[in-house]
Amino acid sequence: MNQRKILVTCALPYANGAIHLGHLMEAIQTDIWVRLQKLQGHDCIYVCADDTHGTAIMLSAEAQGITPEQLIAKVKIEHERDYADFLVEFDNFHSTHSEENRALLESIYKSLDANGHINRRTIRQLFDPEKELFLADRYITGTCPKCKAAGQYGDNCEVCGSTYSPAQLIDPRSSISGTTPVEKESEHFFFALPEFSAMLKEWTRSGTLQESVANKLSEWLDDELQEWDISRDAPYFGFEIPGAPGKYFYVWVDAPIGYMASFKNYCDRKQLNFDEYWNAESTCEVYHFIGKDIVNFHTLLWPAMLTSAGYRTPTAIHAHGFLTVDGTKMSKSRGTFINARTYLEHLNPEYLRYFLAAKLSSGIDDLDLNLDDFLLRVNSDLVGKVVNIASRCAGFIGKGFGGMLTEQVDDPELLQSMQSAKEEITEHFNQREFGKAIRLIMAQADKANQYINDKQPWVLAKTDTQSTELQAICSTGINAFRLLICYLKPVVPAMAAQAEEFLGVEPLLWKDIDALLLGHKINKFKPLMTRVENDKVAAMVIATQNEFRQQSSAKRKKEIAVAADSSGLEPEIEFDDFARVDLRVARIVKAEHVEGADKLLKLQLDVGLDKHGDSLTRTVFSGIKSAYNPDDLVGQLTVLVANLKPRKMKFGLSEGMILAAGPGGEEIWLLEPHSGAEPGMRIT
Ligand code: MSP
Ligand code: ZN
Repeated sequence: MNQRKILVTCALPYANGAIHLGHLMEAIQTDIWVRLQKLQGHDCIYVCADDTHGTAIMLSAEAQGITPEQLIAKVKIEHERDYADFLVEFDNFHSTHSEENRALLESIYKSLDANGHINRRTIRQLFDPEKELFLADRYITGTCPKCKAAGQYGDNCEVCGSTYSPAQLIDPRSSISGTTPVEKESEHFFFALPEFSAMLKEWTRSGTLQESVANKLSEWLDDELQEWDISRDAPYFGFEIPGAPGKYFYVWVDAPIGYMASFKNYCDRKQLNFDEYWNAESTCEVYHFIGKDIVNFHTLLWPAMLTSAGYRTPTAIHAHGFLTVDGTKMSKSRGTFINARTYLEHLNPEYLRYFLAAKLSSGIDDLDLNLDDFLLRVNSDLVGKVVNIASRCAGFIGKGFGGMLTEQVDDPELLQSMQSAKEEITEHFNQREFGKAIRLIMAQADKANQYINDKQPWVLAKTDTQSTELQAICSTGINAFRLLICYLKPVVPAMAAQAEEFLGVEPLLWKDIDALLLGHKINKFKPLMTRVENDKVAAMVIATQNEFRQQSSAKRKKEIAVAADSSGLEPEIEFDDFARVDLRVARIVKAEHVEGADKLLKLQLDVGLDKHGDSLTRTVFSGIKSAYNPDDLVGQLTVLVANLKPRKMKFGLSEGMILAAGPGGEEIWLLEPHSGAEPGMRIT
């Protein structure tokens, strides 16, 4: 066989948060694929690293009272442990805050600059005079210049959908310090992405991307590409730009170079030739597995930078969709944001690996972790179908035949047919159609179980525990089990290792599927995997919710402190002003998504009865989509500003506003009156 040299990466997780099941879906998808290549005898190397730079990490270290270096060192240990405990086997896990990364970054930057692909120009930006920090859009809030909605972020309004520059916000505030930002000039460095337009049009259509991804990108590529701002001003946690004191590389410049840096670190340890993989003429293969949210960085900027600097481009980019839990996007406020560690405290990591494999495809659709489905699937397939075959045969072989398998099996055709599925299963795995591969493997398991049901070895054993027939039937069963384990080994490697011990064999390889285990002595059977238990799943969900409560109460205290700073409050109003606000209890009777709106939900409210005794309803558009699933809102009580002048919005007329609080994103909480309240009650 022709041995391929393959380098594989998954995206580098940010070093300011814990690994969660979304990260794991990606790392596990990649790990399964890598393990398969290794089992097939290819030279495949899997590297990753922590993505350690940027403002968020700098601020998060500050908030914890430690240096960014201390923060990323602590997080790296946790991240590595989480991945390892999910059996994600990196050949190397490095850091973007490393000497290898600095050296590669500087040399790549120098090439880009020497090739005339770096432009410098001065831009105006909002600046926090108290923190002495330029503010990225997401750190600025203010009132929408168009519809006057308060508390809008950065550059677009969640209420009316208009876009603007943060400097146009009315009464803008830095969400870091609460002060009013000022406009300030600064010189920035830009990468001349438009010069790569032709190269990218060609590259993105050369089989490097999934079709749906390539189609999406062609919309971008048909428009004019923008120059890419690659510098940030001090203070910034990152690498300084050579020859430009106080200017730092934007985190997304050194992040993908972090793939190379991790590999370089590996090469140095293992005496491998880095250039053989990365030079422009390399015949090695390089694959990046990433989420669909970071496609642009990997398919436009990264190949353009590599090309300018004289390196090869990736062989392919494999994008995946998002993991949802019970049908909703993972969310802290609903307690569905499950951390790796929380899962591990309650459940076996191979349950998740198997479940994900059974659901993954090569596309970019989201994948739902429905917890009922998870339990049923793992129990019925892994425990019910696979382990069960061994447990039904092993005892008889042990007791009656001293663990010896026969030289000839009872049903060679069955085993032969299981072996002949190999080509198709391999192809599905290679194409990242894991769900199809698993379905086919389980079809083999069904055949094997059917065989054992038909032969009923337990009936034979009642009359004679030492008949050759019994031995040959159970040997067929054990061989069927061995084939299933071979097929499943990339997915459940720890279970496979236990099975190898039971079978008394060397670590199984993909080519071992072609052979059978005959005249061989096996060991005593121990159950390889226990059933997923419902109360363990429930305990994990509860633990996740408790973590969220603890975290958010600490976070809320801090926000209240920032807001209470007098500079963060609105000007005083008179009591009469307040008394004119008509606040009413309202029940949400209908909640739906709004076609084309990113942030809004359309709510139908029951506000009790009017003075004629007719029921009073209102339609309100509310920017809470990021925090609430419409189905969860129906029936819930909230508070309505009932006498707000109706406002014509892009999507229709909004008759009032409902009250909610929170920093935004997933963390917005609707004000909820006591459950005894009735729609229409006036709040005073
Ligand atoms: N640091 C950048 C990547 C730099 S790569 C040179 C980053 N980090 S991240 O921690 O936000 O995300 C890391 C990976 O996890 C991304 O590929 C992202 O798509 C993936 N996921 C994060 N949440 C996810 C889900 N809920 N589901 C599936 N994958 C998700 O982006
Ligand atoms: Zn607006």
